[in-house]
Amino acid sequence: MVVLSGAGISAESGLKTFRDSDGLWEGYNIEDVATPRAWRKDPQLVLDFYNYRRRNVLEAQPNAAHHGLAELEKNFDVTIITQNIDDLHERAGSTNVLHLHGEIFKMRSERNIELVYEIKGDIKIGDKAEDGQQLRPHIVWFEEPVPKIEEAIPVVRQADIFVVVGTSLVVYPAAGLVNYAPWNAPKYIIDKRIPYTSEITNITAIEKPATEGVKILLSLLESGS
Ligand SMILES: NC(=O)c1ccc[n+]([C@@H]2O[C@H](COP(=O)([O-])OP(=O)(O)OC[C@H]3O[C@@H](n4cnc5c(N)ncnc54)[C@H](O)[C@@H]3O)[C@@H](O)[C@H]2O)c1
Repeated sequence: MVVLSGAGISAESGLKTFRDSDGLWEGYNIEDVATPRAWRKDPQLVLDFYNYRRRNVLEAQPNAAHHGLAELEKNFDVTIITQNIDDLHERAGSTNVLHLHGEIFKMRSERNIELVYEIKGDIKIGDKAEDGQQLRPHIVWFEEPVPKIEEAIPVVRQADIFVVVGTSLVVYPAAGLVNYAPWNAPKYIIDKRIPYTSEITNITAIEKPATEGVKILLSLLESGS
């Protein structure tokens, strides 16, 4: 089973999505805080934004949707491909999580994507990686390549069951992953407002908040429908 998750799964844990608030993410314009241009223009603002996000995530708890997906590992071989930078899937107990867009509890050299370190506190201007370069959040910003997509595509291609939870399916290349799921694999989409998908076959839409929707998914899978 392969699950593609997005910001909507963490909404009920108190972490805000941005499509739901007119393109703002916690009150910020995305281009001011989550692009390479923003980093060049005002690195302090970018660090402040992600330092604040990191504190929010530390305080947040996984919700019933994260826990429900973790529970599926009892009966299925589950891979979660998430666009989220939080660690709520892992904290709920999921053991196989691929973060397409990076992780809030990691930082890296601004020059070398291989020099990655754990971080629970704040990143400050002047904090350097071992290559002497400024440390930045280990986040894939808008307009940056998404290296993990190459790992994600073959995983989706082999899905026997494909589940999409809490993503608007507008941010590419992540959104394009749904097109790689085998046509005959059952697909479940859980979202409080089901996103538009064209030419995708075999879909069951569960238009509910993630916590309720995952519960419904578990009972559908249990009953074999
Ligand atoms: N928690 C996080 O890590 C976080 C938070 C905000 C944005 N982001 C970044 O934003 C990008 C945007 O893509 P996205 O599709 O993940 O987010 P998005 O904001 O574009 O879409 C969120 C989707 O979740 C749905 N939703 C909102 N509340 C829900 C709920 N309670 N239950 C079920 N569905 C709900 C919305 O209807 C929408 O379809 C990603 O790259 C992600 O890295 C991440």
